Amino acid sequence: MPDRFPSLCDLLFTHANLATMAAGKYHIKKDAALAVSGKTIAWIGAMANLPEEAASLAKTVIDCEGKWLLPGFVDCHTHMVWGGSRSNEFEMRLKGASYGEIAAQGGGIASTVSATRAASAEALLAIGLKRAHHFLTQGITCFEVKSGYGLDMDSELKMLSVVREMDRTCPQDIHATFLGAHALPPEYKGRQGAYTDLVVEEMLPAVKAQGVASAVDVFCEKIAFSREETRRIFKTATDMGFGLKLHAEQLSDCDGAALAADFKALSCDHLEYLSPTGAKAMAENGVIPVLLPGAFHYLKEIKIPPMELFRSLDMPMALATDLNPGTSPVFNMTLVLNLACILFGMTCEEAIAGATLHGARALGINGTKGSLEPGKDADITLWDMEAPSDLCYLSGLLSPELVVTGGKIEYK
Ligand code: NIG
Ligand code: FE
Repeated sequence: MPDRFPSLCDLLFTHANLATMAAGKYHIKKDAALAVSGKTIAWIGAMANLPEEAASLAKTVIDCEGKWLLPGFVDCHTHMVWGGSRSNEFEMRLKGASYGEIAAQGGGIASTVSATRAASAEALLAIGLKRAHHFLTQGITCFEVKSGYGLDMDSELKMLSVVREMDRTCPQDIHATFLGAHALPPEYKGRQGAYTDLVVEEMLPAVKAQGVASAVDVFCEKIAFSREETRRIFKTATDMGFGLKLHAEQLSDCDGAALAADFKALSCDHLEYLSPTGAKAMAENGVIPVLLPGAFHYLKEIKIPPMELFRSLDMPMALATDLNPGTSPVFNMTLVLNLACILFGMTCEEAIAGATLHGARALGINGTKGSLEPGKDADITLWDMEAPSDLCYLSGLLSPELVVTGGKIEYK
C-alpha cells in the first residue's frame, strides 16, 4: 500500500481521531490525517507526518477538529424492501401472542407477502429509497437486502429488481440476496415439496439468468424450511455460483449451521440455539456468525447466542439490523450496537467491528470494505464524540456529521 502522500488528492481529512477497525480492532490514531483519491483511501498518517504541501494538493480539505473518523457501517442482513406494516402484530405480541402463533394463523411473514405482492415495483422502490436514505443518515454506507416477501416468481423478481434499482440510484453499495425459501406461500399450503421444487427448478435459474442477486439465503426452521430442503436449495445455488447465507438456529436448533458449514456458506445468521458442534463446524469452514440483537429484543428471547464459544473459537462476529417489519423494525445501527453490548455482552470494540469489518466479511467484501486502510474503498463517517464507545453507550444522540461513500461526500 502506498506510504507516499498521493499526488492526486480529492478529499483530505485533517486533525481527526481515527478508529480504523483494521483486523477488527479499534487501532486508534489520534491527531491523524486521511487522504482520499478517487474512490479509494490513499493515505493515512499522523498530522505530524503530513507533507506541508498536502493541503494545497487536495481538492477539498475538511478540518475534523478532533472529531472521529470511522469506516461506514456495513449492514450485512436486512429485509429492507417490503409493503404494508405489521404494527398490529407488535400489539398482539405485547398481549402475549408468540411470533410462531401469529405465523400459524396466517400472519407474520405471510401478511407482508400479501402487501408486497400487491405493491407495484415503483411503490416498493419509493419506499426502499426512503429507507436507504435513512440508512445513509445513520452512517450505513453498504448493506444487503433480501427478497423473500414475494414468494412467487414475478414478485421475487420484482423485489430483486427493486434492490438492483436502489443500488443504481443510492450512494451506498447494495447487495441483493435471493430468499425465495423464506416461508411457505399460502397457495402452497400442504405442498412444501412442490414449493421447494419451484425455488430450485424455476426461481434460482431465473434469478441467475437475470443477474439480480449475488447470494442465496434460506430460513431453516421448524416453521419454515427443513434441513433437507435447505440442502437441496444450497446444492443448486452453489452449483450456480451464488454465495450462501442461512437463517439458522433462530427459534430452535435445526442443525442448519453444520449444513451451511458443509457448503462453506458466507454466514449463518441469528444462532441463538447454535450447538457447540454447529459452532465448531462453522469455525472450521470460515462461516461468519451474524448476530441480530434487534430480532432477539423484539421477540423477547432469553437464550442468547453462544458468545463465549465464538470467542474461544476465534470467530469474527458480525452484527446487523435484520431490518424487517416483523421481528426487527430497526433502522439504526447504533441501537444495534447498544443491544449487542447490553443483551449479548459484546464489548464496544467487538460490536463496532461487527457492524463494520466483520459485517463486510459476512458479505465476502472485507477486501474492499469495513475498515479505514489505504487501498480500501473510501466509505467513511465523521462523528462528534469523545470516544468510539460512545456509539454503543449513548442512546439516540449520535448520528454522523458527514458520510462519504466511494470517495464522495453524500450526506452532511
Ligand atoms: O430475520 N427469520 C426470518 N426472517 C426474518 C423475519 C421476517 C419477518 O417476520 O417478516 C428475521 O427475523
Ligand atoms: Fe432475517
